Amino acid sequence: MASVDLFHCLILTLFLSLFPQAFSLAASPTTSVIVPFQCSATIATCNASLYHINSGFQKEEIASLYSVDLSQVKPIKYSNREDLLISVPCSCKNISGTTGYFYDTIYKVKLSDTFSDVSNNIYSGQALSVIEEQKKNFTIGSDFPIHLPCGCVDGDSQIVVTYTVQEKDTLTDIGSLLSAKIENIETMNKKLVENPSFIVLGWVLFVPSEKNGLKKPGELCFRSILFFFVFQHDIEMLFVACWCIINLLVSNFHKNY
Ligand SMILES: *[C@@H]1O[C@H](CO)[C@@H](O)[C@H](O)[C@H]1NC(C)=O
Ligand SMILES: *[C@@H]1O[C@H](CO)[C@@H](O)[C@H](O)[C@H]1NC(C)=O
Repeated sequence: MASVDLFHCLILTLFLSLFPQAFSLAASPTTSVIVPFQCSATIATCNASLYHINSGFQKEEIASLYSVDLSQVKPIKYSNREDLLISVPCSCKNISGTTGYFYDTIYKVKLSDTFSDVSNNIYSGQALSVIEEQKKNFTIGSDFPIHLPCGCVDGDSQIVVTYTVQEKDTLTDIGSLLSAKIENIETMNKKLVENPSFIVLGWVLFVPSEKNGLKKPGELCFRSILFFFVFQHDIEMLFVACWCIINLLVSNFHKNY
């Protein structure tokens, strides 16, 4: 019995490491999908982070585009590139009938700007599209309000990062980039993430980043394998071990390629 399961596990592992993108779908980079973070009755405001995909601007320009101090802009390494994490105050708002947590900034509209270009090229596709505001106010030279979704959670151990799914990202990548547990990302984005191996380019996700970092992934694997062999031949432990090994292999595969 156990050896048959192990065999299936190995086949699945092999398959997933060879075809890690088997279950992800690429969409046009101009489609961003935002489902705002629901306000909690107990939290009106908190500190949150916005993930800024490198747009070629200087840090000073970014600070000004997000209306923050330079001290609120921190670099984060994504592959061979340097992206930024912007710390912002995040509060529960009602934006023309859409309620959720948001951070607002102002953008001065320039010649030949479109709302979606501004959102995609400057704000990583995170600006909420409010049609009435665009009709009324998106004109050259005007100060246009940009509503960026953010998230708040109870307790001090996590900070929510607003993250836009990039090409070839998997939840495992995002989790290790931002020190978040995969299952916590899933729980926080239930409306979008129904299947953890299916995420789409342009989705705006809320990622609960552990302030003190994550435990090493190998630890759980080691413990469950030990449990299975030494203490009890519990089939559940074998599954945990198997799941663990798959995750380790898949994440190593992504790091290497
Ligand atoms: C946010 O952070 C600042 C400085 O780090 C702190 O003074 C402030 O109290 C925090 N706000 C909330 C709502 O936690
Ligand atoms: C949000 O504001 C709109 C008006 O812009 C109002 O009609 C609506 O009832 C408000 N919703 C909530 C939940 O307060």
